[in-house]
Amino acid sequence: MEHTARLELDGQSHDLPVVEGTEHELAIDISKLRSETGYITLDDGYGNTGSCKSAITFIDGDKGILRYRGIPIEEIAGRSSFMETAWLIIFGKLPTVEDRERFRQLLTDNSMMHQSMRKHFDGFPPNAPPMAILSAMINTLSMHEPPLDMEDESQLEEAAARLLSKVRTIAAAAYKSSVGEPMVYPRYDYKYAQNFLHMMFSVPYREYEPKAEVVKALNLFLVLHADHEQNCSTSTVRMVASSKANMYASCAAGVCALWGPLHGGANVAVVEMLQEIKESGMNVSEYVAKVKDKEAKQKLMGFGHRVYRNFDPRSKILKKAADDMLEAMHIDDPLLDIARELEEAALSDDYFIERKLYPNVDFYSGVILRAMGLPLNMFTVMFAIGRMPGWIANWKEVHDDPKGRIYRPRQVYVGNPQTEWKPREER
Ligand code: ACO
Repeated sequence: MEHTARLELDGQSHDLPVVEGTEHELAIDISKLRSETGYITLDDGYGNTGSCKSAITFIDGDKGILRYRGIPIEEIAGRSSFMETAWLIIFGKLPTVEDRERFRQLLTDNSMMHQSMRKHFDGFPPNAPPMAILSAMINTLSMHEPPLDMEDESQLEEAAARLLSKVRTIAAAAYKSSVGEPMVYPRYDYKYAQNFLHMMFSVPYREYEPKAEVVKALNLFLVLHADHEQNCSTSTVRMVASSKANMYASCAAGVCALWGPLHGGANVAVVEMLQEIKESGMNVSEYVAKVKDKEAKQKLMGFGHRVYRNFDPRSKILKKAADDMLEAMHIDDPLLDIARELEEAALSDDYFIERKLYPNVDFYSGVILRAMGLPLNMFTVMFAIGRMPGWIANWKEVHDDPKGRIYRPRQVYVGNPQTEWKPREER
């Protein structure tokens, strides 16, 4: 029997189809609601709205489950590199040995920026936020790219490799330009994460040699950020993609959406918070009391998530990685101790328990990025590099949908009723 939901409205009943996903999540299909009833739905912040059907990532927030293309994050993390994960997310299956080799070659062959792009960096003011540079330069990249024939999968693979590879070069160049150092060319013999660290930290008179644990932790960080279904930035990418905008424009919009402190900017906010606690001499319980006080208008950064209401599986993996990496590098970071204490205090506090607030991926990622030597203003850029496969995959999904329509939500207007225009002297 067809599963439907019955809606009683103005004395009439309407049967709305129920759609079931692979993992049995249920959704009421309201796509004909307005044409049949004249009503729309209202859902501030989209907390109850499925904006699309997607086959990329599955999250069960109550159970703390995250899977890319069906594979649990715990099985991917530490086993697949970021580039293998990217291919899985974009193309839907684990790459074969041949796929890996072809993709690796494409990444290497496309790692340099067009020489003329370097000039753009001179036009940005000193201290320009690297997220602004990243977004602007991804758009600039689109001007250097050939048009893409979506029917040809090999063209898409090459375009995805170009964007993934060049984004890393742009990010490192943005950093170099912000600190007044010459840009460093990518190396042919380095893999993705190592090449990024090389372009970030090598200088003409001294080659940077990253420790194996740093490369490992960076790969893990990127893998854990690679996709997260319909979050703010990915929804933005899909929104822009629905107008048939190109991959670069859509992903540049994703960077802008990620920039905010309630989204990707939270990893910066967490470290600033930990620093504030350390420098103010405030103890952790005083800080917890402050974030519970609504008058203080201060949240415990790195805590809470719209979807995860049990635990964020990524934060568990990152917490362990932070411990391992700092131990292997013999780093004693007082901020990590404060983070541990804060987590413990919050997890045993009724305010956080009742509201189901747990550490999210940003809670420990800042500690890891600090230990790698990355400056605070690059943290959200690191998140953007990590999220690129998810944005590309979602852009592709929108473009591949034969029934795809432009995204165009409605609203409930609450402004002035019809109002008369007045000449200036009568206002
Ligand atoms: N600290 C203190 N209180 C919090 C926090 C927090 N971090 N997060 C939520 N709350 C409280 C809210 O004030 C609200 O309290 P109330 O019911 O008494 O009014 C309740 O918990 C429910 O919170 P919502 O606002 O409904 O949570 P929402 O789903 O809208 O927001 C968000 C989720 C944005 C992540 C929020 O928890 C937050 O601001 N956290 C801090 C910022 C952060 O870490 N962002 C990173 C998110 S993960 C990512 O983007 C990768």
